[in-house]
Amino acid sequence: MAAEEKKKKKMSVAEILAACRKLDSKGDTASQAEQSSGKDQAAASSAKQDSASEESKPATKIPKPGSGKRPSVQEILAMARAEKQKKAAASTSAPPQPSAAKKPVAATKPTPKPQAPAPAAEKPHSSNILAAEEVERKRGPVSKSALEAKTPAKPSPTEKKPAAKAKPVVPPRPTRPPFTKPGKKPDQQRRGFLAVLGVMLGTPLGVGFTSLATTMGLWTLGTLRFMFPNVRIEPPSKFKVGFPSDYPPGYVETKFKTQYAVWIVNAEYNGQQQIAALSTVCTHLGCTPNWLEAEQKFKCPCHGSGFYINGINFEGPAPRPLERYAIRIAEDGQLEVDKSRKFQEEKGQWNDPDSFVPA
Ligand code: FES
Repeated sequence: MAAEEKKKKKMSVAEILAACRKLDSKGDTASQAEQSSGKDQAAASSAKQDSASEESKPATKIPKPGSGKRPSVQEILAMARAEKQKKAAASTSAPPQPSAAKKPVAATKPTPKPQAPAPAAEKPHSSNILAAEEVERKRGPVSKSALEAKTPAKPSPTEKKPAAKAKPVVPPRPTRPPFTKPGKKPDQQRRGFLAVLGVMLGTPLGVGFTSLATTMGLWTLGTLRFMFPNVRIEPPSKFKVGFPSDYPPGYVETKFKTQYAVWIVNAEYNGQQQIAALSTVCTHLGCTPNWLEAEQKFKCPCHGSGFYINGINFEGPAPRPLERYAIRIAEDGQLEVDKSRKFQEEKGQWNDPDSFVPA
């Protein structure tokens, strides 16, 4: 009996309810079981609601098991509460159990001590960081371990090198378009010129400004021309015409006519063969006569005056003979003509020895 009571004491409320339902299912019909279960559920819900109030109430009479009467749900609940109260009373009235310290040490198992929580990482203080920097800056011998700590570890040959970076793809350079010289088309140039002409001559104001600009330009050009005097550049007055042997009697040299306006003749004058330099200027009005080899005379094309080989006029309007220039034999033996000095036959100057060279 004591064992049965012990078992009953150990049963929880849920086990008791399960046992009651098992008894109901065996003894009653299904309909009665359903009605009872509904009633039980309702009673359970109501019992939950009234549990607080029932605790204060005196315990109901609990039928003994084996009496043949089926206990109701309220009775079962009352039984469960009574068991619970008994347990509480037993725990309060039970003598204190011997402490574990009184037990032999060998019997107690060594309980693992709770491990102390790992100390949190100490936060570095700013002063510590500065001190470490000062130590780094100090000069002096460095230990091998410190040097190894400073120098970065060399990569082992077995380590795989990072893949080389791929070269960026450069886009192809665009082709330069062919150079075209900027300029206006002929039609555009013509239109521009006509527009400028229209502005210059199309309005009275444009005409006035154009005339003023033209006048000012001409005035400037005249002023500039006035700054440069008229200078006639002439050949030197003295020049050499060769050796006397180059001029045989009755010979007329015409090659100096254009450059020096002089004929070199070897002719007879006053019974003497003389080499003289005759001027190519007609004594009538200044034209230039021509030497006619066939007729052995100088003929002026302007008015028909004629001169002999020695320069004496014999026909036409020329009033006097041709003029002579001074001639002499220079130091090198050549004939030298000096045009700065003239000799006129009508004045008797041809008798001057400077006016001829005896042949
Ligand atoms: Fe020579 Fe008149 S200029 S004849």
